Amino acid sequence: MTLRVGMLTSGGDAQGLNSTMRGVGRALLNAEQEVKILGFLNGYHGLMHSSYRHMTDIDFAGILTLGGTILGTSRQPFKLVNDPLYENEPEGITKLEAMIQTYDDLSLDALVVLGGGGTQKTANLLSENGLNVIHLPKTIDNDLSGTDRTFGFQSAVNIATEVIDGIHTTATSHGRVFIVELMGNKVGWLALHAGVASGADVILIPEIPYDPIKVVQALQDRERGKKRFSIIAIAEGAISVEESKMPKDEFEELRKGSNSVAYHLQDQLEALMIQEIRVCVPGHFQRGGTPSAFDRILTTEIGVEAANAVLEGDFGIMIGVKGRELVRVPLKKVAGQVNYVTLDDPVLLAARKMGIFFGD
Ligand code: F6P
Repeated sequence: MTLRVGMLTSGGDAQGLNSTMRGVGRALLNAEQEVKILGFLNGYHGLMHSSYRHMTDIDFAGILTLGGTILGTSRQPFKLVNDPLYENEPEGITKLEAMIQTYDDLSLDALVVLGGGGTQKTANLLSENGLNVIHLPKTIDNDLSGTDRTFGFQSAVNIATEVIDGIHTTATSHGRVFIVELMGNKVGWLALHAGVASGADVILIPEIPYDPIKVVQALQDRERGKKRFSIIAIAEGAISVEESKMPKDEFEELRKGSNSVAYHLQDQLEALMIQEIRVCVPGHFQRGGTPSAFDRILTTEIGVEAANAVLEGDFGIMIGVKGRELVRVPLKKVAGQVNYVTLDDPVLLAARKMGIFFGD
């Protein structure tokens, strides 16, 4: 019997999508059982509209080091999954129904889905509706529960570290304060790890609301210690203590005018001190380019383990990593849960002992 396996990449891209698909594809095509792989184009959009192509051995050649995703991706918000597929047919088929229909029409035996938190929630819903789904944890944010690491994270840390390293030299020459804003959505993993790896002086993350006055004091302490420059690594989701107490609508109103959190912090700090502050926002650059060696190995392992699970008929799971072990985590246990930086995180604690200031 030939196994028919669908595969797709969904949500924001990250390094390691292609290398993961290579792991899945090679291991499946090398298996004793005959396997056909159907790659859906542009994430769940392709599954909804039955837009796919057959993937053979040649599709997985030369993509280990390639950034982005050869299948394309799109954002399909989970909250819209029960909306009509076509806006002009409000009573017609829903997005969820369309995905199930494609899976049935193509007689799929399994669906391997690469994506982050939103993708995972839809994967879980499809699994609850009887589809044989395996989710592979991709995101530069590292914000998925049930796994120590998501792929893409380490590559993004490397890029963000290089950015801050570069900023360090110019900040030193000019004796300036620099704010570098890093991605990470609502969690601070990327800012924490890149900040520690690059020797940032202040790291501000959403999990620890910051006090702007204390940040200024920390910068002034450095000046008094004859350190002519300071680097602040701030996660895009960071908030001040005052903001953390505001109702959501008031907070959104406050932030509406400012470009992003780094510029907001610049305004806050400049109101409190007379010093040149510069901002650097590397943005999507952090998601670009080739996966790091770490991510190439991790994604190869995860991809092969996903193929093992398909061949064993083990579904409704995410392939995660705990310590040095790969783990199969039930999707229903982790879908929708966010992995925040905890206050006893070893990297955070070490950073505090090094004198890195967290704004609290
Ligand atoms: O989830 C990955 C991520 O890069 C976040 O860090 C960031 O907040 C978001 O995606 C950006 O989304 P978009 O690519 O839609 O601008």
